Amino acid sequence: MAINNKEVTTTEEQAKVRQKTRQILKRFGRKQGNLVPILQKVQGKLGYLPREAMLEIAKFLSIPGIDVYSVITFYNQFRLNPPGKHSIRVCLGTACHMKGGYITLDAWKRRLGIDRGETTPDREFDLDSVACVGCCVMAPVTVVDAKPQGKVEPTKVDGLLLAFEIEREKKS
Ligand code: FES
Repeated sequence: MAINNKEVTTTEEQAKVRQKTRQILKRFGRKQGNLVPILQKVQGKLGYLPREAMLEIAKFLSIPGIDVYSVITFYNQFRLNPPGKHSIRVCLGTACHMKGGYITLDAWKRRLGIDRGETTPDREFDLDSVACVGCCVMAPVTVVDAKPQGKVEPTKVDGLLLAFEIEREKKS
């Protein structure tokens, strides 16, 4: 099964993921209908769904690994990459879309050097899009660490990143 998620690299890490996944699986029956709740629990524990966890789940439910992968990629709630320290969620609801949400998303992608659903190599940021978060008057909105930020156009993206940089420098 070719799965493009490569964050669990060492044998030790892989063994840990398998062990944690097996512990969660003990709470479930081997019904295929349990796949989504199992994925939710495993992601809740690990923060995302690494390849090793997918393989354990597939074995447990006696289904092909590709079926597990398909469900993960079908639902927005599942992550194939580990979360970053800071989450960046660009709203692409109607109002934000009309006010340039995709331009904002492109600005984040370029500045962070990652695509939607990915995490920066230093695991500082992860980037994704969301549907309307209910602050349409502030469009275009980006939710930064669960806090909606309004009027986030490309120059504001730079400002927000600069604020993170200053914060990091203060701590070091
Ligand atoms: S559409 Fe973005 S907050 Fe409503």
